[in-house]
Amino acid sequence: MLTPEAVREGFLAFSRHTEHDSPLYSRLSPLIADDEDLVRLCQCGRMPISNLFLGAVQAELAKSGHPLREWYPQLAGGPARDDDPWPVFRAFVLEHREAIRGHLTTRRVQTNEVGRTVYLLPTFARLAAGRPVALVEFGASMGLNLCLDRFRVETEAGSFGDPNARLTLRTSWSPRESTPTDGPPDVVSRVGVDLHPLDVASEADRDWLRALLWPEQAERRPILDLAMQIAQELRPRVWQGDAVEETAKHALLAPADAVPIVFQTHVFYQLSAEQIERFHASMLGASRERAMWFVSRHDDLRVTRYEDGRARGFVIASPHHHGRWVREWTWPAELDALCE
Ligand SMILES: C[S@@+](CC[C@H](N)C(=O)[O-])C[C@H]1O[C@@H](n2cnc3c(N)ncnc32)[C@H](O)[C@@H]1O
Repeated sequence: MLTPEAVREGFLAFSRHTEHDSPLYSRLSPLIADDEDLVRLCQCGRMPISNLFLGAVQAELAKSGHPLREWYPQLAGGPARDDDPWPVFRAFVLEHREAIRGHLTTRRVQTNEVGRTVYLLPTFARLAAGRPVALVEFGASMGLNLCLDRFRVETEAGSFGDPNARLTLRTSWSPRESTPTDGPPDVVSRVGVDLHPLDVASEADRDWLRALLWPEQAERRPILDLAMQIAQELRPRVWQGDAVEETAKHALLAPADAVPIVFQTHVFYQLSAEQIERFHASMLGASRERAMWFVSRHDDLRVTRYEDGRARGFVIASPHHHGRWVREWTWPAELDALCE
């Protein structure tokens, strides 16, 4: 059970965080923090409570014809209202409090952001060096990023990935002369591990990922829908489990002719230093049986080669958290040598 102070602080911090990208959430958050009834309702949830609660409200709103829709750009069906949403918002929450409580006690913030594949795609293609790859994702959520070989990326200086893809992502790449031209890697197996996997075959799980998008970020919705369609066809397998313990074992099971690539994006911030250290130790142990790569977006984008119980890491870029831009991309010659 969260304390009222933790709930209030969560919403006040979220208000600052969403100032530019979600004016609606930024405006509602301090009012929620100040409302005793809503704070009490939120106490049954978990952190990050602001994203979880506002996702729960949006999940219910998407199913209803309530006038609150008029303030949500993705649900308004025309230009959204920008007068005071608070009385209508509060009334909606109180009318739907039991359904919202249901989401707060069963759901988690598990945003599966395919924009992150703009930097994973060329990284995997280069590590593959023309050979098949076996992908193993640490904290895969619904596993959408395991389908990245079916995506294409456009930049100001050219495109890369699958030239015939239905799903095109856009990013700004620098330095411009380092813009990738790689085709997609040949993915022969796609496996994820998550504490609470979302199932792409479940309409409720697909709706939950839609509800986690911020209301003003309309451009993310068609991309998410297309990625979920592609994942329904490819069906990447996301195992339920603790990836700290399980990921390296899956990498060892990769097809013999494939290059095992383990990766994580935006999961390590949810782990303790001790968990990250244990994962590193399990990769070192597994690498005595088989060499493998680890690609990680934590602060920077880092590639680590695990081989014979040793690890060598390289920072290769500094990407935006949703992949809007990729900066300082560099591919050391030593990395190419390790791929041979
Ligand atoms: C913010 S989501 C990111 C999902 C995906 N990696 C992406 O970038 O779109 C974090 C995911 O990590 C999962 N997770 C957190 N700790 C984990 C652990 N120890 N083992 C497996 N999954 C974990 C959560 O359940 C959640 O689905």
